[in-house]
Amino acid sequence: MTTPFAELLTWTTRGTNLAYLLAAVLFILALAGLSKQETAQRGNTFGIAGMAIALVATIIKALVQSHTEPEHYRSALTTAILIALAMAIGAGIGIPRARGVEMTGMPELIALLHSFVGLAAVLIGFNSWLHPQGLTADMESFHLGEVFLGVFIGAVTFTGSIIAYLKLSGKIKGAPLTLPGRNLLNLGILLASLAFMVIFILSGGHGVWAWVSIIAMTVLALLLGLHLVAAIGGGDMPVVVSMLNSYSGWAAAAAGFMLSNPLLIITGALVGSSGAYLSFIMCRAMNRSFISVILGGFGSDGGAVADDRDYGSHTETSVAETAELLREAKNVMITPGYGMAVAQAQYPVAELTRKLRERGVNVTFGIHPVAGRLPGHMNVLLAEAKVPYDIVTEMDEVNDDFDTVDVVLVIGANDTVNPIAYEPGSPIAGMPVLKVWEAEHVIVFKRSMGAGYAGVQNPLFFNDNTDMLLGDAKDSVNGIIADL
Ligand code: TAP
Repeated sequence: MTTPFAELLTWTTRGTNLAYLLAAVLFILALAGLSKQETAQRGNTFGIAGMAIALVATIIKALVQSHTEPEHYRSALTTAILIALAMAIGAGIGIPRARGVEMTGMPELIALLHSFVGLAAVLIGFNSWLHPQGLTADMESFHLGEVFLGVFIGAVTFTGSIIAYLKLSGKIKGAPLTLPGRNLLNLGILLASLAFMVIFILSGGHGVWAWVSIIAMTVLALLLGLHLVAAIGGGDMPVVVSMLNSYSGWAAAAAGFMLSNPLLIITGALVGSSGAYLSFIMCRAMNRSFISVILGGFGSDGGAVADDRDYGSHTETSVAETAELLREAKNVMITPGYGMAVAQAQYPVAELTRKLRERGVNVTFGIHPVAGRLPGHMNVLLAEAKVPYDIVTEMDEVNDDFDTVDVVLVIGANDTVNPIAYEPGSPIAGMPVLKVWEAEHVIVFKRSMGAGYAGVQNPLFFNDNTDMLLGDAKDSVNGIIADL
C-alpha cells in the first residue's frame, strides 16, 4: 500500500526529472547561443534559466526526500537550514568576488571556481564511499569504481586549478617546472593510481586496504594536478584554461554518477566535452599537439632564447604624428591585445574606428585566437564597445593581407605579434602570430619596451617600419581622436 508521503516522493521524482530534462535542453541551447557573439546574450539567458530550474527542482526534491525518508537522512527542516546555510556561504563569497572582478581578472577567477568543482568532487566521492545510499549488492563494485574515478579527477582538477590561478594572477612567476623525465613521472602516477583502483575495488571498499589505496591515490592525484600545470610555460596558459574547464566538467559528471543525479551527469558531460573541444581549438591556434597537452607534457622545453639580445634601437612616435599618418591612410588594421583590456581602451578604439570610417578609411580588426587572457577576450571587449561584428576578423582571415595595409595599430598586443615565434626554442616557438610587420607602417601602443606574457622581448619593436607610441593605450587613442 502506498502512503501519501511515498506518493508525494514519486510525484516529486517525476517532476524533478522533467525539470532536469528542461534544464538540460536549456543548457544545450545556452551553449549553442554562446557560440556566436550575436546570440551570446540569449545563450546566457537560457543558461541562467536552466540553472534556476535545476536549483529549485533539486532543493524541492531534497526537502521532500528528507521529509519522506527521515530514517535515511535528516528532517526536512535540518535539510532546509543546511541548504540555506550553504547557499548563504557560497553567495557571500561569490557575489562580492564576481561583482568586483575586472575583465582582466576573469581567467584567474574561473581557475579558482574550477578548483571548487574539483574539491566538491573529492568531498562527494569520500562521502559517497563512507555513506553509500540506495546501493544494491550488484552495484557495489561499480559504485566503488565511480567513487575512485570521481576523487581522482576531482583531485587533479583541484590542485591544477589552484596552480593555474596562482600563475594567471601572477602570484607564481618564473620558468615552468620541467623535472627530468616528467612524462614518465606522469605515466607512473597514472599506472600507480590504476593499481590502487584495483586494490580499492577488490577490498570491497572496507578495511585498511581500502583506506590505504584511496588516500594514496588522492595524494598522487593532487600531485599530478600540480605537476601537470606547473610544467606549462610561456604563452601556453590559454590551453590550460580550457583544459581545466574540461576537467572540471568531468569532475562534475563523476559527482553526478556518485549522487545518481542525471542533470549533473549531463551538465558535467556538456562542460567536459565543450571544454575538450575548446582545448582542441586552442591547440590548433597555438600549433600544439592535443595529446601532449592533455598529458601536460608541453610548454617550454627549457631552451628559451636569451632575452638580453641587442636588437638595436627603436623609434618613438607621438600622438600628433600617428594622427597625421592615419589621415593619409586608406587601409588600417587594428590588432588589439591584453593591454587594450588593461587600459580599458576598447571604447576610444571603437570611437576612433567610427571616425576613420566616416573619413572613408577601411578599418579592420585582426584578432589572434589567444589575444588577452581568455578565449574570445578581445571579441567580448569590442562587442561591448559596439564595434561592428563584420569588421572584426580572425587571424587566419587576415594574415596574408598585411602587405596591403597602410597602417597597423598594435594596441596593447605583444606575444601575438611577436616574430620570435618563428625561432625554434623560443617560449612561443611554433605559435602562429599576426604578421603585422608586413604592413607599410606599424604603430605599437604600449607603456614601455617591456616583454609580453611569455616574458620574451619582441624584435618587431626595433623594425624600421615600426614606431612605438609609448603611454597608456586609452590616453593615446583619446589623444588621436582629439587630433583627428
Ligand atoms: P601580451 O603578450 O600579454 O602583452 C600585453 C602588452 O600590453 C604588454 O606588453 C604591455 O606592455 C601592454 N600593456 C599593458 N597595459 C597597458 C596599457 N594600460 N596601455 C598600453 N599597453 C599596455 O598580450 P597579447 O599579445 O594579447 O598576448 C596574450 C598572451 O597571453 C599570450 O602569450 C597568450 O598565450 C597568453 N594567454 C592567453 C590566454 C587566452 S585564453 N587568451 C590565457 C592565458 C595566457 P607594457 O607593460 O609595456 O605597457
